[in-house]
Amino acid sequence: MSLVMVDGAVSHRVPRQSVKTKHLLSAETLTPDYVDEICELAENFEFGFAEANHPRGTAVALLFFQPSTRTRLGFEVATAALGCHAVGLDDMSGSRSNARTGETLEDCGAVISNLCDAIVIRHHDVGAAAKISTRSRKPVINAGDGWNEHPTQALIDLHAMRRNLGSIKGRSIAFGGDPRGRTVRSLMHLLRYELPGEVVFCPPAHVAVPEDILNVLSMSQIRCRVIGNISDALQQCDAIMMAPYDMSDIGEEASSDYISPRASPESHVITAEKIQETDSQSLLFHPLPRQDEIHTDCDDLPNARYFEQVRLSKYVRMAVLDHALR
Ligand code: CP
Repeated sequence: MSLVMVDGAVSHRVPRQSVKTKHLLSAETLTPDYVDEICELAENFEFGFAEANHPRGTAVALLFFQPSTRTRLGFEVATAALGCHAVGLDDMSGSRSNARTGETLEDCGAVISNLCDAIVIRHHDVGAAAKISTRSRKPVINAGDGWNEHPTQALIDLHAMRRNLGSIKGRSIAFGGDPRGRTVRSLMHLLRYELPGEVVFCPPAHVAVPEDILNVLSMSQIRCRVIGNISDALQQCDAIMMAPYDMSDIGEEASSDYISPRASPESHVITAEKIQETDSQSLLFHPLPRQDEIHTDCDDLPNARYFEQVRLSKYVRMAVLDHALR
């Protein structure tokens, strides 16, 4: 803040609102150049070729209105690795920015962006990150908004698939689990740049693949088909991105006592026996948490890449934050 003379008196000049805030709200609006830059920067952080240099005291606000393990801890670890500070609450229902006190997300953004240098928000409502960004002077990162999007998870998923497959171009990529999940939608937006040979869905019988996701594929001229047995994906696909078959809790509030029934159809569950029977070389990914859709007897097989995906997530989140804070 600078001091200026007004009619002989000293006045404080309020900083103007930043005009180049780099929000990360949706995977749909990310450019191929940004995606490549984040993946490259993540790799440079992983191998020690990049160093962060942010001003002392740089603070990242983690606002979690909905439960999280990986995303919250991932951003906290990434913030620390950049030499910055993570501040915030695990459960925003314990704050005074919630429905009970009536503070809007817009006001929450205006307040917190005057204290911190970036905001990471998870919320049970679709569009919550976009809402908080409207009054934020600092970059807002969407860490999952209801059923809508989870763009940083998609960047992690894409980076892990690129790393493990070499290239996604021309490959057959399957999606098991509920195709309505926010991670699926965000990843589909990024996959359209990678030109996979086909995308295969294995949804539960009672759930249709959302129209908007099918439209992304058809507009990108990526072949798409739906199968009813995960063994077909194990036989035919280069990679399978799994998700739970029951994701009913995804829009629940942090204080919800919802308990998932956690019962996947047997035909849709991946087991070591099925991998052996199909002699499958498919690489298995999962944003996690899993329920029963990948049996734990798969964890030590060469197909399993989901814990490696978690390891890579730290560097991707470092890259996202470093880019946003620059
Ligand atoms: N993958 C993911 O978003 O996990 P959390 O809900 O634990 O953050």
